[in-house]
Amino acid sequence: MPPDLECRFRFDGIEVGPLAIVDLSATGFAATAPAELALAPGSILEGFHLVMGGQVIWSGDAAVVHGSPERIGARFTSSVLDLHHMRLGATIDERIAVHREQRERLPAEWRAAVADVRQLLEDARAEMEDLERAELHDPMRRADGEAHLFAALRARWGREYYEAIARLHEMSKTLDERAASLGKSYATSMLMPLLAACTMHRRAYEKPLGYAGDYRLMELYFTREFAGEGLFGRFLHSIAQNYTLGRTVVAREVVMREAVRAACASEGEGPVRILALAAGPAIELRRFLRDVRDLRRPVELILLDQEPAAHESAHRELTRVLLEQHRGMLPVSVKCVHSSVRQLLKPQTPEDRAVLEETLSGLDLVYSAGLYDYLPQPVAALLTRLLYGLLKPTGRLLLGNLKETPDTTWIMDYVLGWTLLYRTEETLLALGEKLSPPPLQRDITRDATGECIFLDVTKEA
Ligand SMILES: C[S@@+](CC[C@H](N)C(=O)[O-])C[C@H]1O[C@@H](n2cnc3c(N)ncnc32)[C@H](O)[C@@H]1O
Repeated sequence: MPPDLECRFRFDGIEVGPLAIVDLSATGFAATAPAELALAPGSILEGFHLVMGGQVIWSGDAAVVHGSPERIGARFTSSVLDLHHMRLGATIDERIAVHREQRERLPAEWRAAVADVRQLLEDARAEMEDLERAELHDPMRRADGEAHLFAALRARWGREYYEAIARLHEMSKTLDERAASLGKSYATSMLMPLLAACTMHRRAYEKPLGYAGDYRLMELYFTREFAGEGLFGRFLHSIAQNYTLGRTVVAREVVMREAVRAACASEGEGPVRILALAAGPAIELRRFLRDVRDLRRPVELILLDQEPAAHESAHRELTRVLLEQHRGMLPVSVKCVHSSVRQLLKPQTPEDRAVLEETLSGLDLVYSAGLYDYLPQPVAALLTRLLYGLLKPTGRLLLGNLKETPDTTWIMDYVLGWTLLYRTEETLLALGEKLSPPPLQRDITRDATGECIFLDVTKEA
């Protein structure tokens, strides 16, 4: 029921109301009634008006079906009421109220800065549409030039855009909690209609699997094929890949791949056992297997993820490389474990316990990226201790977390609704405290952009 919904009508030539509406349907209503208004069933209510916020939103006639000292219930006799109108009225009122509060609580310069970003996007779209019209007359042009065109535009337009986002990141630090929440709805409604042309921005915002950083989005960071609505959408895909944290997602893959390579090249007996935690598409394993020539020890790759579709994609690609490139001759096994951090920390079933005690025991390397960014500090600390316990002596933990980054964090937080827990080197290193037995080494490793930091721990011999 919308608030401030009332009714007025005439009964026996006397004006009655306003009375508060307490229930409403397409065919009738209930309203509070003063004790002296004794309306018997069958009484005709003429000139009935439904009023919201002082405005008449529906008129007709009604007949009383129930009367008591506190309430009357009546049925419409003229026509049924269209409840959609009412819902629209209520949401419009709500929107106006939010808009008013946004104007009051968000500084004018802040709103202007969001409008500037929108203008930049509008300009880019207009340019792209012009170009597309020109290409209609010359279909040969598209294939050769798109990547070069986007790179050139990123150098000029992109620089302006990323700087504008970074300025908003700085300005937003002064907003209190309520203003930040109003700012998020403001920025989303201003920018999302344009950014939605791009497959990456759109997927992050719409979260088809229930969260933003899904395996498919990760794949889209790596692809050379731009996807989106028209040239503008494809250009925004290249913009998404080149936010600083977009480049970080690609750069951190190199760190994980190098850790896998080093583990596989290590001296020792028996198979090398590697756990990719929250493996997603496991791009680093695809590339490692693509590049490796031979292996001195058998390798067991264990991919753990809560998302079956991520496993399907990773398993398909890893098997393809093993069969097509190595003709099945490389001593590598791939096992996908469908499980979650919660199941690891609180195993409920015999299967959960078997995963911990058998599948994940005696590991040479446990690595992860794109997971700790979602885990609060106490959960992350518990998980780190558990993972450390799964390592063999001399085994290695490599756990990545993104740092807050001006040109990306604002878009994720304010526009895409993709909130991460960014860590600093101190808060990440703190997760490696209190490990038992004390590690041989506890350090921070960085990717090439410096924005993904890894807690890098080696267990004692
Ligand atoms: C941002 S992606 C990162 C994938 C990959 N590690 C990378 O760096 O590209 C996060 C992955 O973690 C998985 N994930 C998220 N929360 C999880 C949880 N609580 N337990 C297991 N997997 C989880 C998601 O399904 C997704 O595949």
